[in-house]
Amino acid sequence: MNLPSRVTIREVGPRDGFQSWPEFVPTERKLEVIQALIEAGLREMETTSFVSPKAIPQMRDAQEVMQRVPRGKCRHAALVPNLKGAELALAAGAEELVVVISASEAHNMANIRRTVSQSLEELIPLVSLSRSHGVGVTGAISVAFGCPYQGDVPEKDVMRVAEGYLAAGASRVLLADTTGMATPLRVQALVNRFRERFGGVELGVHLHNNRGTAMANLYAALQAGATIFDTALGGIGGCPNVPQAAGNLATEDVVFMLEDMGVDTGVDLEALIRAAQLLERILGKVLPGQVMKSGPRDPELAERLCGIKCHP
Ligand code: COA
Ligand code: ZN
Repeated sequence: MNLPSRVTIREVGPRDGFQSWPEFVPTERKLEVIQALIEAGLREMETTSFVSPKAIPQMRDAQEVMQRVPRGKCRHAALVPNLKGAELALAAGAEELVVVISASEAHNMANIRRTVSQSLEELIPLVSLSRSHGVGVTGAISVAFGCPYQGDVPEKDVMRVAEGYLAAGASRVLLADTTGMATPLRVQALVNRFRERFGGVELGVHLHNNRGTAMANLYAALQAGATIFDTALGGIGGCPNVPQAAGNLATEDVVFMLEDMGVDTGVDLEALIRAAQLLERILGKVLPGQVMKSGPRDPELAERLCGIKCHP
């Protein structure tokens, strides 16, 4: 086994999760969850997105969220689809921008209403603006493992977007399985190709669990050399332009598995489980995360945290 000694967990629940929750999550509740995540040790977060409030009304409080989050311990990123989003995010104090462009024309058009070429063109002034503020850019490639409209996405289309990001000055790339269509060997192949082509560029994966393969995909990506893992507290999440959208991998499930395998995440599992339970109370629905229900391996702790009976 070829496992790194530590990885970066990038919490995306406040963006990917709250954007796709059927009701608007009140700003105060969002801030409460963000605070709990920071206390659990998350050091990178996709805190909100600066997108059209007509497209995604759940993110209409982006400016207030970004202005009010606790600073200092955690790098607060904003997802942005265009230059206007970047301007708004930087003005509100975003500490990293995550740009999103799809590898397929059909999904980019549905999501961003631009051709891939138009998005790549706009990327150049966007990254230079961000860098002039001293803010780094991470490039996310949506539908890198399959598109809900066209099915298979050729590897060259993924690499074209990756190249665009890096040429424009983005420092990291995320391969996103927006549709949960990836399986482990596809993940391994694409991560390997990326690494052959772009050497030491920091690479992450953003995995959705539409078909139950996300944890296996994460393990494949880990072994192939990805070092950034997007996850969402409680396993919330979903793309508005994917039918039957499913959540991201639950942060607490990923932290549980990685820490048990000796991969340092820097996150405190106990505090994270409490944060997931807080989120479940706030949202008022049973969430997909599993470790928040079954608890850690220690039976006493599982009983204390999750009410699991450890005595026969
Ligand atoms: N943030 C806030 N408002 C924005 C914006 C942004 N990033 N970009 C554009 N707008 C506003 C414009 O100012 C304009 O406002 P007006 O109607 O009051 O004049 C309006 O939105 C339309 O602008 P336009 O450039 O024509 O956008 P569009 O209608 O073609 O939509 C996007 C393009 C990218 C703004 C929209 O599709 C979007 O926000 N998509 C994000 C989808 C998403 O978040 N998906 C999930 C995450 S991957
Ligand atoms: Zn997502």
